[in-house]
Amino acid sequence: MTTVFESPADWRRARLAQLHGGRSLGFVPTMGALHEGHLSLVRRSRAENDVTLVSVFVNPAQFDDPADLARYPRTLDADLAMLRAERTDFVLAPRAGDLYPDGYRYRVTENRFAKELEGAHRPGHFDGVLTVVLKLLQIARADRAYFGEKDWQQLSLVRGMSEAFFLGTAIVACPTVREPDGLALSSRNRLLPPRSREVAPRFYRALSSAPTREDAARELRANGFEVDYVEDREGRRLGAVRIGGVRLIDNVPLGDRT
Ligand code: PAJ
Repeated sequence: MTTVFESPADWRRARLAQLHGGRSLGFVPTMGALHEGHLSLVRRSRAENDVTLVSVFVNPAQFDDPADLARYPRTLDADLAMLRAERTDFVLAPRAGDLYPDGYRYRVTENRFAKELEGAHRPGHFDGVLTVVLKLLQIARADRAYFGEKDWQQLSLVRGMSEAFFLGTAIVACPTVREPDGLALSSRNRLLPPRSREVAPRFYRALSSAPTREDAARELRANGFEVDYVEDREGRRLGAVRIGGVRLIDNVPLGDRT
């Protein structure tokens, strides 16, 4: 049975009641609009822990563009149905006021990597991500928390924060789940117009196969993508593009190029 909580305080009480006797807890933070990528994290958590908590919260603080926040897909009923089908033990679906009693006066800032790549194009984005992840990790008090490699920079920064603040929750990286044509699954894919959806897999192909990042960017522009960046960091090639009014990000290991 899946138990759904709105209030972090209610979850904390249930957690204390449930987790006596050394049962391990895995935690999967999400913004909902769930797909197989999210579910791969849930399955991994279920395989590695006695009990799993999934949070669903569209975090306003990490959206630099109000239009992007307004049209972010919200599908809570479908999300809950999927989580029940996965036999998720607990879901936390808080309201903004529950997570931001301070009105976002307190926030976490990383001053190096968070200013690059996504951070350079989305000012304040990682302050919002790190702040909500810190809050959620403090509320969940999990043994392990699961993050996708799809959002490589986020994963790297969350890991760094966890070490910097001795959070005590192990951060587990999970591989990117893709469509058969290579497009990384993303909640934003459903916003792609059909013509753009057809072209979108070329993003992954260009990142994986172009010899240099400049070649990848050139190839992408030739195929109608607007390129925010293609950069090589931490042994990966990371990119962000816009197509059909939708912004996509992806990354591949540099060793994968053919
Ligand atoms: P969201 O985009 O909903 O993603 C939730 C988790 O699912 C993240 O760890 C993300 O990397 C992972 N994920 C998304 N698509 C994936 C895919 N195709 N394959 C594997 N994993 C995938 O990332 C966020 O939400 C938010 O920033 C959050 C961490 C919840 C903070 O608000």
